[in-house]
Amino acid sequence: MAKTKSVYVCGDCGSEHPQWQGQCASCSEWNTLTRFTPAAGNTSSGANQARSISVSLNTATRNGGYAGSDTEVKHLSEVEIASNPRISSGFEEFDRVLGGGFVPGSVVLMGGEPGAGKSTLLLQVTARLASQVGVLYVSGEESLQQLAMRATRLKLPTDSLRVAAETRAEEIAALMLEHKPGVLVLDSIQVMQLDSVESVPGSVSQVRETAAFFTRLAKQSNTVVILVGHVTKEGSLAGPKVLEHMIDCFVMLDSPVGSRYRTLRGLKNRFGAVNELGVFAMTDLGMREVSNPSAIFLQRSDKPAAGSVTTVLWEGTRPLLIELQALVDDVQGGYPKRLAIGLDAQRLGMHLAVLHRHCGVSLNDQDVFANVVGGVRVGEPGVDLALLLAVLSSYKNRVIPADMVVFGELGLTGEVRPVANGQERLREAYKHGFRRAIIPEGNKPRPPIEGMEIVTVSALSKALAVFDEA
Ligand code: TYD
Ligand code: MG
Repeated sequence: MAKTKSVYVCGDCGSEHPQWQGQCASCSEWNTLTRFTPAAGNTSSGANQARSISVSLNTATRNGGYAGSDTEVKHLSEVEIASNPRISSGFEEFDRVLGGGFVPGSVVLMGGEPGAGKSTLLLQVTARLASQVGVLYVSGEESLQQLAMRATRLKLPTDSLRVAAETRAEEIAALMLEHKPGVLVLDSIQVMQLDSVESVPGSVSQVRETAAFFTRLAKQSNTVVILVGHVTKEGSLAGPKVLEHMIDCFVMLDSPVGSRYRTLRGLKNRFGAVNELGVFAMTDLGMREVSNPSAIFLQRSDKPAAGSVTTVLWEGTRPLLIELQALVDDVQGGYPKRLAIGLDAQRLGMHLAVLHRHCGVSLNDQDVFANVVGGVRVGEPGVDLALLLAVLSSYKNRVIPADMVVFGELGLTGEVRPVANGQERLREAYKHGFRRAIIPEGNKPRPPIEGMEIVTVSALSKALAVFDEA
């Protein structure tokens, strides 16, 4: 029998290396490689085991023997597209992030910090789904008693939902065979284990193998498998990163510190747009969806202070109004600080350099702090112009009018670049009572929007004129 070969797997990005090394060559993280010996002379024994189980799951297997390969090759046009209707989660916000509901046979990974509300949200979803498709909720972290108490407290229907407290993957597969659920929840993947893998639950190899095992089962039995994965603030604990390549959808439940709002973001989706954002509020009756998020992120007072600017983000398929705040103050000891919460601090530093070089405003003797109100994380460059105007508004102690929105991307040569979906962003702002806007030249609306005074700028220096008025 061939000797089983070890590989070294990065706990952060999941890439494999033949030898141990201090730094992962793929993602450049340090000390993330751990040794991993596949169980059956194959790097995906979990998948293999799932195959043997799936023989009984899927009785319609090919009847041929093993003369040559048993893999069928087809023309793409011959592949029948099963009309699998999507399964709605019961939450519009959740469905949109998924691209219109769960796709049968798909694997969805829900990541989030402990306490974010993953179990709560999934219990709400599955309790309502159970009467339609049959659900098996496997909890490896909470006892059945705890689950039942939570469901009762949340006033959820409990008569159709099947639950089990189990962490052994083989056992769960047997339960699947017996009950044939349409949806299987594994809460969480970090406590599940396959007998054939020797490492402890939560380790890279255990998480990878168990996930591969269930991914295979999901495809074979056309079951939606939802994996819960805990992520720590620093990134992950043998978690989502290792799994990202094998799952179909990766949604992340973010819980800003001190906020009762939770955002669900699609980071990977094989069946829809990524970067869709769903917004929920954690209440004493569990998670409630927020259908007009602009209204909650934008609780600006009518008399705004210097340093506050409203901008319009584009999140997946819809606009979102948010307030940016900046504080500029004399350096407190030595080195000027650049701190950004919800924004990229490096990008902020870059913009401050543009401001100096192209507009002659130096903030070298100033600390600069920036924050996105409401705890949304902003990744798109469309906020650049608004961020810089917020910084200048604080620095100059000049208020930006309450009914003004600003958006636009900033280039290193000081130019203001157009953003995608400019018209829709303006319309959203108008809908929420904004009557003035500073936007990139390239986003100029044609025909003009009636009742909205729009200033278009092609360079940062032009946008600074806002501080000359009023
Ligand atoms: P939970 O779903 O257990 O988080 P996770 O599974 O992501 O670790 O949620 C736990 C938090 O949610 C806990 O801090 C209490 C809070 N919570 C509420 O505020 N209201 C509720 O109705 C429930 C069930 C939880
Ligand atoms: Mg939980």
